[in-house]
Amino acid sequence: MSDHVIDRVKTGIPGLDELIEGGFPRGDTILIAGKAGTGKSILATQFIYKGATDYNEPGVFVTLEEPPHLIKRNMIQFGMDLENLVKDKKIALVDLSPSKTVTPVTIGEYPSFDLSGLEAIILNHVKKLNAKRVVLDTLSIMAYRFKSRDILREEFFKLTASITRTGCTLLLTSEIPAHHQGLGVFDIEAFLASGVIVLYNEKISDTSRSRSIEVLKLRGSKHSSRIHSMRITDEGIRVWPGEISPGY
Ligand SMILES: Nc1ncnc2c1ncn2[C@@H]1O[C@H](COP(=O)(O)OP(=O)(O)OP(=O)(O)O)[C@@H](O)[C@H]1O
Ligand SMILES: [Mg+2]
Repeated sequence: MSDHVIDRVKTGIPGLDELIEGGFPRGDTILIAGKAGTGKSILATQFIYKGATDYNEPGVFVTLEEPPHLIKRNMIQFGMDLENLVKDKKIALVDLSPSKTVTPVTIGEYPSFDLSGLEAIILNHVKKLNAKRVVLDTLSIMAYRFKSRDILREEFFKLTASITRTGCTLLLTSEIPAHHQGLGVFDIEAFLASGVIVLYNEKISDTSRSRSIEVLKLRGSKHSSRIHSMRITDEGIRVWPGEISPGY
């Protein structure tokens, strides 16, 4: 490989790598955005699962929303057994969901304007597993803790920079509110990320919806500028690179 070729990380999503020159640029921060139920968590979990099973890249999945037992239950529907990977120390599922009650460190203990506690936990897991992939699902949930957008931006930047400094490729998920306009948290996250992928589940008739995926930006990459069909199958998320979404 010549020096100017960017090292690519396989996404583990069939069809997606073909839209982005072979994968995410290694060590970058990628934002997976979309409205509720568009498949952000499934895509992010599949990235961690396939990384560990197919590409020999251990991963750390930090959940700030759904409790791990539900993530495991949902993913086993796609034949992805997270429990076994946790046992084999190929992945870590870090539970920072609000439902967690008995825990040595809860989110509530983090000072409002400082994410260094969260950073320390994540870096510790990365080191233990020699992880190459990290997911934060979802950072946006912490935004309400910050009184100032400047501090929020600063803290998110410090956190994402310290994770990618380890060489890990970082996926963030972000929910785009149903009536998104103007500057929300999404804009800060999109600003911090070198790539933004948007998932859709749009109504295409009175009686049906259609899932699709768009690479909104990906620095350093000649990516597709079309909106492609995507489906949640029995094996997880799959993209059809040659198929343009019927809604577009
Ligand atoms: N086994 C399955 N087969 C097909 N589709 C499924 C399956 N399991 C879940 N889904 C679809 O995936 C959706 C959930 O995906 P996911 O949790 O990744 O969404 P999300 O974008 O993370 O949503 P949120 O913003 O609420 O966190 C469900 O609403 C459902 O439509
Ligand atoms: Mg989710």
